[in-house]
Amino acid sequence: MHADITDLRVGIEAAKSLIQGAIANKFYPNTNSNNSRKQICIADLGCSTGPNTFIAIQCIIEAIELQYKSQGLAIPEFQVFFNDQISNDFNTLFKKLPSNRNYFAAGVPGSFYGRLFPKESLNVVHSSASLNWISKVPKEITDRSSAACNKGRIHYTNAPKEVVDAYANQYQKDMEIFLHARAQELVGNGLMALQIPAATDVTFDSDFYCGKNFELLGTCLLDMAKEEKVDEEKVDTFNIPIFFSPLKDLIKILESNDDFIIEQMETMDAKSHFIPVNAQMYVSFHRAALEGVIENHFGNGILDELFHRYTKKVMEIPAIMDLQNLNIVGLFVLLRRKV
Ligand SMILES: C[S@@+](CC[C@H](N)C(=O)[O-])C[C@H]1O[C@@H](n2cnc3c(N)ncnc32)[C@H](O)[C@@H]1O
Repeated sequence: MHADITDLRVGIEAAKSLIQGAIANKFYPNTNSNNSRKQICIADLGCSTGPNTFIAIQCIIEAIELQYKSQGLAIPEFQVFFNDQISNDFNTLFKKLPSNRNYFAAGVPGSFYGRLFPKESLNVVHSSASLNWISKVPKEITDRSSAACNKGRIHYTNAPKEVVDAYANQYQKDMEIFLHARAQELVGNGLMALQIPAATDVTFDSDFYCGKNFELLGTCLLDMAKEEKVDEEKVDTFNIPIFFSPLKDLIKILESNDDFIIEQMETMDAKSHFIPVNAQMYVSFHRAALEGVIENHFGNGILDELFHRYTKKVMEIPAIMDLQNLNIVGLFVLLRRKV
């Protein structure tokens, strides 16, 4: 376990040294001089618009360079693929690319729950804080005749067991699809460094950190439905496609995969990604993460009013921003593609 991380800068530093150390120790340089493919291809999956993706890529490249240098080998060229959903703002990402970068950059749009790259074309895959997004809300969640129907809530916190199970089943299927796709895309001995948010508690009640803020957002939507500003039916069928797997279940999924060897696995403090300093920052963090799915479901007409209401409620209950008892951790895992 890592020590408590109390500010954002220290958090990012800890994540950086973890990735750098893992790659530096475990990356095997290509020493076969007959090999015509001399470039190293790296993909960051769920990259968003930066800057975290640029920091992670730089760490990975520095760690690989170190390996080549220490073995007296010529430094290879690097090709980096930045992947996210088609709705991601790739223009902003490209504008923010570091001007002094020592790699070729390309954007790859599409879901990582499926193939994105040709077979055996990647040397390193990285993904951080993205694999808690499931590919879709399970069908039964919005089916009124199902025991897993989640009417009156927008997430599985405080929901019946059937709702939690439906999310968990979707998560397991998605993770298996993700691992299978990457197993085809990575070269033999290729590495995959994942930082996956997971829940330390198995109970998803009102104390569950992310549940609390999703519940509060849900009350804003319900208020707007009462005032007929949004359609009640639309609120009933809206669910956030995010799942924080119980840590032990996530580890089981990773351990039961046959294509990869687990080289390193440890938990990190999830606060490294988010330290809110005030209600506005807290709300903008959630808005950035959620506005795409809200807009897809309701259209963009409601976003400003919804998040204005949410900000007011967060200011009324500032304790909601307290991360002291955060029951989410980041699982860092380094996987090696079996040859
Ligand atoms: C919280 S952000 C993490 C951004 C960045 N990796 C970081 O560590 O700060 C999660 C990102 O995952 C992306 N994402 C979610 N599901 C995805 C999928 N199926 N395929 C590709 N990207 C996805 C989201 O669009 C979002 O940009």
